[in-house]
Amino acid sequence: MRLLIRNIARIAGIDESGRDRVCGAEMDRLGTLDDAWLLADGERIAAYGPMSALPEGEFDATVDAGGGMLFPSFCDSHTHLVYAGSREQEFIDKINGLTYEQIAERGGGILNSADRLHETSEDELYRQAMERIDEIVRMGTGAVEIKSGYGLTTGDELKMLRVIRRIRETAPLTVRATFLGAHAVGRAYVGRQEEYVELICREMIPAVAREGLADFVDVFCDKGFFTVEQTARILRAGAEYGMRPKIHANELAVSGGVQVGVAHGALSVDHLERMGAEEIAVLKASRTMPTMLPGAAFFLGMPYPPAREMIRAGLGVALASDYNPGSSPSGNMKTVVSLACIKMKMTPAEALNAATLNGAAAMDLSRDHGSVSVGKRADFFLTRPIPSVEFVPYAYSTPLIRRVFLGGREVWAECGR
Ligand code: NIG
Ligand code: FE
Repeated sequence: MRLLIRNIARIAGIDESGRDRVCGAEMDRLGTLDDAWLLADGERIAAYGPMSALPEGEFDATVDAGGGMLFPSFCDSHTHLVYAGSREQEFIDKINGLTYEQIAERGGGILNSADRLHETSEDELYRQAMERIDEIVRMGTGAVEIKSGYGLTTGDELKMLRVIRRIRETAPLTVRATFLGAHAVGRAYVGRQEEYVELICREMIPAVAREGLADFVDVFCDKGFFTVEQTARILRAGAEYGMRPKIHANELAVSGGVQVGVAHGALSVDHLERMGAEEIAVLKASRTMPTMLPGAAFFLGMPYPPAREMIRAGLGVALASDYNPGSSPSGNMKTVVSLACIKMKMTPAEALNAATLNGAAAMDLSRDHGSVSVGKRADFFLTRPIPSVEFVPYAYSTPLIRRVFLGGREVWAECGR
């Protein structure tokens, strides 16, 4: 199928360099082309160019962008969007003054979601998760990483990962799966954390690998959750089965999570609300992508990661939603981009690069995702006419997306189109 998009006011996010990420000062640059067309052939971008040189010939479909802009789909490299129900009671608890850690200590938080997940069938979990998938697709996400971690028993972790596999097989976007058995200590093991780590390494990881259910392994390496030593053990066990690490690090404390992640070749270390100069230096000497989740900092009222310092140090950084029921009940990547600009003083170009190409790198997907490049997947969205690229984060709550294309196929259009 050959699909021609014409009358695009501006294509943003063009990159023909072949690089897998954009770092430091380069992050403030976004490749653009004005008054343009784009041709998709099958699932891939075949060509693009100026309207003054519109290609002639037969196309299976022609879409008039009507003067809107075209952006590459967001690459959301950190979510927990398979979960049962919601946790607005804890939202109220937080309004009344409890902290995230206090809620967790009282058996709420992640364990609350684990209880609900245990009682929910695989079909029902899939149904609920697909509602969230439809939601993020409409909001421009084209590739997403989804974690387990609300199972916390071998059976329930497998149940979650099978749901993620089913999403991968049926949803129009690209899905990467992460095993996060070490999200919290399962209820049956409270007070016996070492035995739980043993269970993860000896039983869960081999069982997950047997069914080929996870690309990556993750650990919540933070104060009150898992130690650096336990994290290292779990990462070694995952590595035996080819699972690359992506780490929850430095959300609640300077946890050593960055160092242990980098030492084990992590694809990314995520959260980073608590960072020092040493963490930045360690990241600078690695290929690990620092990934920030401003939606969680916003929702929990935490400090924001030092984005400017990281970029100034020459690092590439990624942005992700952390879509989950406890600390970030939103998968809206446009809002994440706005928060990055407003709260972390990232420029719109930096934030968009972080939410696309660098997010793809954090999932090892840059070869096919994250920019408008000939040969990459034709994953993009069209906006309504807008005055500038900067208008996207500026209009922080306005839905601007009109049509969504994934793999060269239209998968969503605004009502009335
Ligand atoms: O990334 N930090 C750990 N995990 C999630 C929160 C999960 C939950 O509260 O359910 C996060 O913020
Ligand atoms: Fe998370």
